[in-house]
Amino acid sequence: MKIIINTAENIARQAAAQYQELLRGKPDAVLGLATGSTPLALYAELARLNQAGEISFARATSFNLDEYIGLPKGHPESYRCFMDRNLFSHIDIPLARTHVPSGADTSESAALAYEAEIERAGGLDLQLLGIGDNGHIGFDEPGTPFGSCTHCTALAASTREANKRFFSSLDEVPTHAVTMGIRTVMNARAIILIALGPNKAEALRATVLGEVTENVPASVLQLHPNVTIYADYEAAALLN
Ligand code: F6R
Repeated sequence: MKIIINTAENIARQAAAQYQELLRGKPDAVLGLATGSTPLALYAELARLNQAGEISFARATSFNLDEYIGLPKGHPESYRCFMDRNLFSHIDIPLARTHVPSGADTSESAALAYEAEIERAGGLDLQLLGIGDNGHIGFDEPGTPFGSCTHCTALAASTREANKRFFSSLDEVPTHAVTMGIRTVMNARAIILIALGPNKAEALRATVLGEVTENVPASVLQLHPNVTIYADYEAAALLN
């Protein structure tokens, strides 16, 4: 794993440069995207570069990692709305080629169809990940089998607690989500994981220095041939 430690501001710039390089060489790249606080500065930088004509998503396709189950369509905290608000409405990607799993159709066939669509698009060229305080990636919580594909899952209590800042109360935080599986993520040709802030320090230590175990989902990344981890100084505090 390549590990880059920098300020959050520089990380957004450096990660954006990785997207520029990818899309310059492969304008129709397939991007795996994430939500949450972590990618916000990167998305703002990608929007800035796009508006300055320094990157184009016009031929790209995207697949998001996950979506809450149970939020009404158009709920501002749904990940579809998050992506429209924080990235898609600011860049030139055709909306028809942006995919977010359905939080309404939780059938097995919908999950299989999401996997099939990723494959039909040619597979993920670059998957972006944040990391949960408990080491989750996507909504693949501790204990998720490494062989998992897109599936419905229950959110860990600590994940609901961490995400309650986006809702008016804990009760409003959905209990379940649809998420790409660990295998879906590991099938990406390249992966970027960004970790920001002191709450991520222990999870990042376990990911990078701990044993590869389903109890720390992100530790599976040790087995991937092309992972870049960007950590700010606080998240990287336990790495030496
Ligand atoms: C989001 C996702 C999650 C988040 C993680 C960190 O699509 O899949 O794994 O990346 O929960 O969330 P933040 O960035 O809000 O700290």
